[in-house]
Parts: sequence; structure tokens; C-alpha cells
Amino acid sequence: MLKKKIEDALNHQVLLEGESSHFYLAMASWAEVQGYSGSADFFYGHSDEERTHMLKLVHYLNERAGKAVIPAIAQPDTNFESLTACFEALLEHEVKVTESINELVFMCLEEKDYTTHNFLQWYVAEQLEEEALARTALDRIKLVGGDKSGMYMFDRDINSLKVQSAAGPMGQ
Ligand code: FEO
Repeated sequence: MLKKKIEDALNHQVLLEGESSHFYLAMASWAEVQGYSGSADFFYGHSDEERTHMLKLVHYLNERAGKAVIPAIAQPDTNFESLTACFEALLEHEVKVTESINELVFMCLEEKDYTTHNFLQWYVAEQLEEEALARTALDRIKLVGGDKSGMYMFDRDINSLKVQSAAGPMGQ
């Protein structure tokens, strides 16, 4: 049985993951319209991943005799100035999600909820990887330069970007 405090915090995380999915969907749609098809695929895929993060929490809440609250999700900001700005916003957003996960983990220790603490370790590792991926993408943009031909190359290669994070190898 989940403590109410933990249940509420997990439901807040459901909202955050849902917002992440929506935000990256907005980026995907923007990139698609701009003709950045590689980046559009990247963001569509990332949006789907965030939805699975949300669903994992929904199932966990319900399995532990809590009640998952399916939240209303606000329309995300869609005025992206550039592809670089999208990736900067992605990193900024992931840092915010990591902070939220860390607070949740801390709360679980305070409340001695070791089952939820254990469940959240998957998110801790995932955040490490996602931040590393966003930083690697931004490093790549710097490397190729932000002009048209640089961004063309970046967009062409973004889905083969391999990231070596401390948690192990990953790629998108
Ligand atoms: Fe599920 Fe990228 O936070």
C-alpha cells in the first residue's frame, strides 16, 4: 500500500512524463515542417519513449493499490527558433525531470518506501542516459557548426548518434 505522500508525488511524475511526451511531440512536428526529417524522427521516437515512462508509473501506482491520475496536459510552447533551440530545450527539460526523480527518490528514503525506491532506480539510470544524449547532440551541433550545411549533416546523422554514458552505451 502506497503512502498518500508517495502516491501524490508519483502522480506528479506521471504529469511530468506526460508533459515531456507532449513537448517532444511539439518539437517533432516543428522539425517535420522545417524539413528536418531526421530530427523529426528522433523527437517522435523520444515522445513515444516518454509516454512509456508515464505508463510505467501509471501501472506501478495501480499495482501498489494506489490510484493513477491521468492528468490534463497543457499545450506546449511551439515557438522554436531553431533546431539548436529545440535540443537546448530538450536538455533543460530533462534536467528538470532528473531533479524531480531525485526528489522522489529522497522522499522514498525518508518515508522508508524501499519498494518504490527500487522501482525508481530505472528512472535514475534513464535520466543519466537522456541527459548524456541531449548533451552529445548539442556537442555535435557545435562541432558541425550551426550553418545550413552543418545542420543538414547533423539532421542526417542524429539517429545514428551513439552516446557513451556512465550507465553504459546507448544509441537512438
Ligand atoms: Fe522520462 Fe526524459 O524523462
